[in-house]
Amino acid sequence: MEQSPYFFPRLPEISVNPDGELMLAGHPAHSLMERHGSPLVVILEDALRRNCQAWMHPAANGIRFRMYYASKALLTTGVAALMHQEGLGIDVVSMGEMATALAGGVPPEMVLMHGNAKDRAELEYAVEQRVGRIVIDNLEEIGRLAEVVQAAGIRQKVFVRVTPGIRPSTHRYVQTGQQDSKFGFNLEGGLAEQAVLQVLRHPELELVGLHCHIGSQVLETEPFVAAAGRMLEFYAHVQQELGAPLDELNLGGGIGIRYKDSDAQMDAASHMARLYEFVAKWCGEHGIDCPLICDEPGRSIIGETGVTLYTVQSTKRIEEVRNYASVDGGMTDNPRFALYEARHPVAPAMRMLDRPDQLWSVSGKCCETGDMLIHDVEMCELHAGDLLAFFSTGAYTWSMASNYNRVARPAVLLLGKDREGLLARRETVEDLLSLDSVPDWLR
Ligand code: LLP
Repeated sequence: MEQSPYFFPRLPEISVNPDGELMLAGHPAHSLMERHGSPLVVILEDALRRNCQAWMHPAANGIRFRMYYASKALLTTGVAALMHQEGLGIDVVSMGEMATALAGGVPPEMVLMHGNAKDRAELEYAVEQRVGRIVIDNLEEIGRLAEVVQAAGIRQKVFVRVTPGIRPSTHRYVQTGQQDSKFGFNLEGGLAEQAVLQVLRHPELELVGLHCHIGSQVLETEPFVAAAGRMLEFYAHVQQELGAPLDELNLGGGIGIRYKDSDAQMDAASHMARLYEFVAKWCGEHGIDCPLICDEPGRSIIGETGVTLYTVQSTKRIEEVRNYASVDGGMTDNPRFALYEARHPVAPAMRMLDRPDQLWSVSGKCCETGDMLIHDVEMCELHAGDLLAFFSTGAYTWSMASNYNRVARPAVLLLGKDREGLLARRETVEDLLSLDSVPDWLR
C-alpha cells in the first residue's frame, strides 16, 4: 500500500485508506465530522488504554509504585473514570479538577492535590472529601492546611514539593525543577528542610513523602535519574536526621512525545524500569527501605491519542510571502503554538497520499494575528472545505482552551473501533450567554 508522506504518530488506530483518507480507529475522518461537527477533538480509546497500561507495567525487584494521571493534560469526568478503570490515581491542582476526578468515581484516596496557590476553600474541600495526599508547595500553606485539618478532626497525609535544581532540556515555560521556580521548596537554599521541619511541628499533618517535577516534554530519562538521586539524598536525610518516617517518593511525570520525526521515542515502561532500578540500587547501597515510587504522567499518556479535525474555511496566497489556510478553530482550542511555538504534526485528512509540495501556514479564526496553529508546513494544494488533521493534540490543547472572541469549545469524542461516545459535548452560544448577567442599570 502507498505510504503517506505526512508525519503522524504510528499508532495502529491511525491509518490511511487506499483513497488517501485518514482513518481513525477504522472510521473515515469525514464521517466523524459529519456525525459530530467541526472542529472535533478525537481521543483514541485503545491507544489511551495501552498507554495507561505501559505506565502501570509491574516493577521488578518488588518495588511498590503508584501512578497518578496528571489531569491538567486533559480532564473530563469520563477521562477520570477511564483512568480509574486502568488503575491510575489522579493528580489535580484546582477545585474543578478535584471535583471532576471525584465525579468520575476516582476514590478520594487516589487523588493527589497540587497547587502553588491553593485557597482555603480548596483545602477545605480536599480535606472534607478526604483526598489521599496534599502536596505542600509553600510555607504559608502549612499553617493554613493545619488549621483546616484540625477543624476536621483528622490527620492528613501530605507531601513536600522540592525543586531539586535540575533543568532539563525543554521549553523554558515548562521547566519546573530549577531553583528559580514558582513551585516548591529548593534544596540548595535550604527551604526544603525548613518546610519539612515546619510540617513536622503539626501533628495533624502526616508527612509521608517528597515530590519533585523537573519539567514537561523531556525526551530523555537521565535528567529524571539525576533528580531522583538528589531527591533520595534528601529523603534519607529527612528520614534519618529529621526523624520523619517517610515512605513515598513522587518523581512527577514529564516525559515527552514525538511531535516530529527527529524527536526521540520514549517508552514509559523502560523509563520507569530505569528509575526503579536506580532507586532500588541507591536504597540498597545506603541501607534505607525502598520508598513507594509515584509518578504523574500527563502528556505521555494522552498526548498522542488525540487528533483534532478542522475544516478549512478560506485560503489566501500572498505571492512570495506566505500561503494561509484559515480553519474553524485555532488558539481557542489549541493555544500551544501561540504560547510556545509548539508544532503539531498536521496533514490534509482527505488527501493523505497527495504530495506535500507547497508551504502553508494554518491560521485560526480569532481576530488576532497571533492566532496561528502552525507556520510554514509542507502540504498539498488546499481549498476551502478541506479537512485538516492536527495530531498529538490529546494533551494541553482542549484543557487550555478559551472562549476568546466568544468562540465555543469543540466536542471531545472518545473513539474505539466499535464504539464512540462524547467526553464533552460541543459548547453552544447558549452556554456562553448563560454566564452573562446584566446589571440592573443597563437593562
Ligand atoms: N506533575 C506536575 C506537578 C506538573 O506540573 C506537570 C505538568 C505534570 C505532573 C505532568 O507533566 P507531563 O507528564 O504532562 O509532562 N501546557 C504545557 C505543559 C505544562 C506542563 C505543566 N506541568 C504544554 O502545552 O506543553
